[in-house]
Amino acid sequence: MFGKINGMFLQGLEGKHVLVEADVSDGLPGYSFVGVLASEVKEAQDRVRTAIRNLHLTLPPKKVTINLSPADIRKEGTGFDVPIAVAILCAYGLVIPGITENAVFIGELGLDGKVKGVPGILALTDWAKNSGYQKIFLPKDNIYEAAMIDGIELVSIGNLNELFDMLQGKKQVDHWQRNTLDKEFELNQYDVDFAEVNGQLVLRRAAEVAASGNHNLLMIGPPGSGKTMIAKRMPTILPRLKLEESIAISKVYSINNLLNQTEPLICRRPFRAPHYSVTAQALTGGGVRPKPGEISLATGGILFIDEICEAHRESLQGLRTPLEERVIQIARVHGTYTYPADFLLVAATNPCPCGHFPDAKCTCSPGQVRRYLSKISRPLLDRIDICVEAIPVTYEEITRTSENETSEQIRARVEACRAIQDERFKSTKIRCNSEMSSKQVKEHCHINKEESLFMKEVFREMQLSARMYDKILKIARTTADMEGRVQVEHKDLCEAISYVRVREQYWGQ
Ligand SMILES: Nc1ncnc2c1ncn2[C@@H]1O[C@H](COP(=O)(O)OP(=O)(O)OP(=O)(O)O)[C@@H](O)[C@H]1O
Ligand SMILES: [Mg+2]
Ligand SMILES: [Zn+2]
Repeated sequence: MFGKINGMFLQGLEGKHVLVEADVSDGLPGYSFVGVLASEVKEAQDRVRTAIRNLHLTLPPKKVTINLSPADIRKEGTGFDVPIAVAILCAYGLVIPGITENAVFIGELGLDGKVKGVPGILALTDWAKNSGYQKIFLPKDNIYEAAMIDGIELVSIGNLNELFDMLQGKKQVDHWQRNTLDKEFELNQYDVDFAEVNGQLVLRRAAEVAASGNHNLLMIGPPGSGKTMIAKRMPTILPRLKLEESIAISKVYSINNLLNQTEPLICRRPFRAPHYSVTAQALTGGGVRPKPGEISLATGGILFIDEICEAHRESLQGLRTPLEERVIQIARVHGTYTYPADFLLVAATNPCPCGHFPDAKCTCSPGQVRRYLSKISRPLLDRIDICVEAIPVTYEEITRTSENETSEQIRARVEACRAIQDERFKSTKIRCNSEMSSKQVKEHCHINKEESLFMKEVFREMQLSARMYDKILKIARTTADMEGRVQVEHKDLCEAISYVRVREQYWGQ
């Protein structure tokens, strides 16, 4: 006898189909597996055998052969236990014919037959739906996550006995009733707000420009000047998250097992702030079976690196490619894993080891200051458009009682500015001013004759590189868009130059 069941697993964010076949024949009783299997799939043999033995049924001893195909891809994860068990029961002729058709099975088995949750269900459910399956039999623990995807029937399974009763027709197959409540999450609720930031007009402005044009931001300043405070509030002024984006972000969290019943969806733009001692692997993702790293978890939101001058060079090095490609590819012998890495980088640093350079209070030698700042590499610096100095708020500002602008007010402007960019770039691969190529800068950042002369002067005086020149024009494009202007004007250029000057002041050209 023979049984065939659909299984699935994830490679990166991509679902893959696996056909699980079981054959039961006379011969030396025992189980054997064929197919390229990762170690945890090989271990499935013991888990499945024990779980089946603990079912309320006695199977005649037979030779059981299990094959996972296609043969050429390496199957991994513990989600094959359930399809393997079902295929065996089918092969024994114990399952109602047809009941497993158009269905896909997933779940890990405990030795007692309990079905345990597996990572990545959100992405897998979406994949199964798009692949045309009608239903998924999946672990009860994962049901809330799967319920976020419409258009596919879900059958929640708590243990193998229960599943077997359904497949034998002893118990009705219960389709999970999606509740409208399942998806009534309040998106975009944050527990911090720009209204809490007093004064700091320069930082507030820089943050808004950064959010408007998706420009990476670096804040430099003494301790307590509000750098961390501003960074934490950056997600609150990015365009509101839509449900599709929330699902796309949540898929990454699903793979890392970071979703749960109370939070089956990520409802706000991520703010990831790995400590500066973060390893390259934790930052960019990796491992034998690569998992998404901080840069992928920050997708759709902010990656904040505080004290960036203290971070390992090697870790920061890993940011360069994703900052340009907005995805990260991790190659392994058995395949390449692709994860999103579409984040806005916000970094902060003190200007020197004591934190007070260039103030007279600074106790560092010029060499110490230089060495400290040089820890952030030039190529990374080149990927940061806006550098801004953070100056501690004054007593008057801290104690001021008049109301500050709220995140919602700022976000409304950011959204309007993004709409202009959406229109501008609708037939291109980019979305924001910061991503413009040199050619696109020429096309979209016209300046009049007078401004050209001014820029010529600035170019000479600041000894700008072509790259820095483009950077200035991109930022200027954003500030013009913020006011809904087509023309890039003198004041846009001056503001953009001020951000580049801060960089020059600390790092030179
Ligand atoms: N503009 C401000 N308005 C209101 N409170 C502020 C402001 N700036 C700083 N604070 C208060 O000071 C605290 C310290 O600020 P924050 O941690 O952001 O400083 P920092 O620049 O990150 O310092 P460090 O370099 O030590 O990390 C904040 O938690 C906040 O309570
Ligand atoms: Mg800080
Ligand atoms: Zn110092």
